Amino acid sequence: MASERTNIMHYDTVNLDDERSALVIIDQTKLPGEVEMLSLTGQKDIWEAIYLLKVRGAPAIGVAAAIGVYLAAKGIDTEDPAAFRAQFKAAKDYLASARPTAVNLFWALDRMEAVLHKNPDASVPALKQLLHDEAVEIREEDIRVCRAIGEHGLTLIKDGDGILTHCNAGQLATTKYGTALAPIHLGVEKGMHFKVFTDETRPLLQGARLSAFELHSNGVDTTVICDNMASQVMKNGWVQAIFVGCDRVAANGDACNKIGTSGVAILAKHYGIPFYVCAPTSTIDMSIAHGDDIPIEERPAHEVTEMWYKQRMPPEGVKVYNPAFDVSENALVTAIITEYGIARAPYEESLKEIFRRKEEAAKK
Ligand code: MRU
Repeated sequence: MASERTNIMHYDTVNLDDERSALVIIDQTKLPGEVEMLSLTGQKDIWEAIYLLKVRGAPAIGVAAAIGVYLAAKGIDTEDPAAFRAQFKAAKDYLASARPTAVNLFWALDRMEAVLHKNPDASVPALKQLLHDEAVEIREEDIRVCRAIGEHGLTLIKDGDGILTHCNAGQLATTKYGTALAPIHLGVEKGMHFKVFTDETRPLLQGARLSAFELHSNGVDTTVICDNMASQVMKNGWVQAIFVGCDRVAANGDACNKIGTSGVAILAKHYGIPFYVCAPTSTIDMSIAHGDDIPIEERPAHEVTEMWYKQRMPPEGVKVYNPAFDVSENALVTAIITEYGIARAPYEESLKEIFRRKEEAAKK
């Protein structure tokens, strides 16, 4: 049971249990009421955990998929490399079908498949070991990346600032620290204080349930607001910066994130408040020119009509539109904070520079 003293920062959002051959996650659908760890071994269970948002947030989905496909590979019962590769591909395609928008899912699975391409002559046991090591590295890299985003983000705010965030792009959405919430958590480590407003984030309430719980449990001054209160809070002068995460950034800087984010971006422009998108390079999809081409997940109607209500809210028979994400166009984005530094407009240029830095770092 989650108590006042539970600090979620001390838990692993997503991990590999080698002994049990299991993906271990916090069941985020149970938060904040219960901190329940799930040990998942079957591919269907892992697929469902991603689809049902038991594990969620672009980086955490990527790490879960990497561990999931490794576990699938470990369980393949053949010594024949060709048969092994075919079964691996089927497992990869299955996990890739869990959610369409967060590019980290495909990025992580492609990176796992690249292990097979880079080692064309390896035996099946050797490939299993290499896939294990890659999954572990993807997870550890996520921690380093989030910390670096936090450090860059922290240079943009000062002690005492009011910060508004939407959805949950915190530790619960990554392996550690988060992206949008990383500057706040790193600030807390340094003894800084912020006043954070978390949009409730209809319909799945990632802000009210997850960001509020994560921040409050780590001692941060946290105020939950309904999504439609953001304008009032900004007008009051209580917000000095907005930090959000993202599921996919296009090459031109258009940023796709949880539904409702683009409204926050428009308000930020109106009130002259900086709107920062925190994006690991694994979330930047340079193959997509602009945001209109990002696939937007649509989710079941009951998330809008019934979930969280004592009884169905709208009348039977009305239509429901439930897109899970929207795109904030690049003109609304003050800066994109990556692990390789802060990109500003024009993003076609600055994002290329970020990837140049990444390539340079890989050579070292
Ligand atoms: O549907 P969700 O809860 O997976 O959506 C998550 C978000 O929109 C996050 O802001 C995004 O994935 C970034 S997480 C660091």
